[in-house]
Amino acid sequence: MIRRLVLTASFLALAACGQGSSSASDAPATPVPAAPTAPAAPAAPAPSEAQMQAALAALPAPYNAADLENGRRAFARCRSCHTITPGGPNMTGPNLWGVFGRKAGTHPGFNYSKAVQEADITWDGERIDHWLENPRTFLPGNKMSFAGLPDADDRRDLIAWLQLNTTAPS
Ligand code: HEC
Repeated sequence: MIRRLVLTASFLALAACGQGSSSASDAPATPVPAAPTAPAAPAAPAPSEAQMQAALAALPAPYNAADLENGRRAFARCRSCHTITPGGPNMTGPNLWGVFGRKAGTHPGFNYSKAVQEADITWDGERIDHWLENPRTFLPGNKMSFAGLPDADDRRDLIAWLQLNTTAPS
């Protein structure tokens, strides 16, 4: 009986609180100014993500529309043979740092096939796209034993990701 009275009393108190419109609307207003600072906080410690997005936007079409996360995942298919860091080792395939704008078959210390050495091409998005679509037919006789990436979107995403990760930020 007493307990029920207490509950009723606190219910009434809560109800009264909710009805005190001026103070009630002041109270929820306090967290609101705090909210804009909350989204700003995660942006600050991740400038590289912002730089990545800016660099992505600066790529020529269609690469500026790439899904970088999908590109990063697609590169898992290349990692067993290629490093991408500056000065990284050659493995089964040559190190790919700086490959965009590099003449095919010219990375120091890698023993390229004649097909790649004599290709006389400079790698850009479009050529890497053809290469990855079907390495065997793009430069017949090369020794990259990779079946190819048949999906054009995967190639676009991978090429954009690769360009951003093998090129020094400007
Ligand atoms: C099984 C190992 C292997 C895999 C997997 C592989 N590559 Fe290669 N890659 C090679 C080899 C070997 C060469 C050199 C080919 C030659 O000399 O004929 C090469 C050459 C290249 C070149 C030309 C580099 C230059 O300096 O001219 C590019 C670009 C390249 N690969 C990109 C990729 C990408 C991107 C992937 C993933 C989608 C990939 N490769 C997967 C082994 C591999």
